[in-house]
Amino acid sequence: MIKITNLYKNFGPQTVLSDINMHVAPGEIFGIVGHSGAGKSTLLRCLNGLEGYDSGSVKIMDREVKDFSRDGLLELRSEMGMVFQTFNLMSRKNVFENVAFPLQIWKHPTAHIQERVMELLALVGLESKSHERIGNLSGGQKQRVGIARALALNPKILLCDEATSALDPKTTGSILDLLDDINQRLRLTIVLVTHQMEVVKRLCHRLLLLDGGVTQAMGQTEDLFLSPPENLKKLIDEDYMLIPGINIRLMFPRNVSQDSIVTRMARELGVDFSIVGGKLERYHDDILGFLIINVQPEHLERTIGYLKKQKLHWQLMEDGNNPYPHVAPEV
Ligand SMILES: Nc1ncnc2c1ncn2[C@@H]1O[C@H](COP(=O)(O)OP(=O)(O)O)[C@@H](O)[C@H]1O
Ligand SMILES: [Mg+2]
Repeated sequence: MIKITNLYKNFGPQTVLSDINMHVAPGEIFGIVGHSGAGKSTLLRCLNGLEGYDSGSVKIMDREVKDFSRDGLLELRSEMGMVFQTFNLMSRKNVFENVAFPLQIWKHPTAHIQERVMELLALVGLESKSHERIGNLSGGQKQRVGIARALALNPKILLCDEATSALDPKTTGSILDLLDDINQRLRLTIVLVTHQMEVVKRLCHRLLLLDGGVTQAMGQTEDLFLSPPENLKKLIDEDYMLIPGINIRLMFPRNVSQDSIVTRMARELGVDFSIVGGKLERYHDDILGFLIINVQPEHLERTIGYLKKQKLHWQLMEDGNNPYPHVAPEV
């Protein structure tokens, strides 16, 4: 569906994308992940020709993006809907008019527009809001309008740039559910850019981790979260408020109960652990347990020995207050 090979992109003297290689399969949800300034949006915009590139190849359905004529690019973009963090809606128009806009540009017959817009509003759960002005909508509703508009021309690919970054956690959850739903119902390929780990875990089948325009990691989401490389580990750890001392993150499949892990470990080692946090986290089609325990320095070595013996996935967490940063075990 999408194939990028040895892609380089500069803004003046600054190289913002350096030797990017990735492919996205039809029906896949692919995440481009990284801190602000990493080059995520630029990479996304190279996909639909909103940005040019200096060398390498970007192929969408086997066609090289930079070979498209102006009209060809417009047509390519009609096959790739785009959803933005700030919604980019026309505030003077109502919900219906916003969703209808791309259909009008492409001169679809009025009767078809009427039918198609109502179908899209039903898909995103906004049938009753068709006459509402954009200004009267909540952030989540605005993003639903943005998604409906992006789907208006029946695109094969949906590009989302930080689509949930301006939303509260609950609304984020409902938009992620919607994206998951349309991915499955419409067999839509989705490429999404995000700095939110919640979004990646919940939605993405695979991900590319960017830092300074350079690929830091790429692979199946679940594999990468179970044994995160250093840069991803940092991003994941930013989601937690750590307590001082040595924090260890354990990761285990859903059929293992976290109580039994900790109870067994405490009993066998004769050590008490503080539990910093723990939850079951939903991945695309699986659930993994995460548990963060705080360990006293004198118990660290034995704890690690135990974890290794049990063959659990675990990692020491990034923590500015960690007085033992040198205790970096091999994983
Ligand atoms: N139009 C532009 N002109 C010059 N520099 C840009 C432009 N767009 C982005 N950049 C720079 O490219 C880098 C990557 O930006 P961007 O792709 O927006 O990152 P991200 O989406 O990961 O936050 C940043 O250093 C940014 O300042
Ligand atoms: Mg961006």
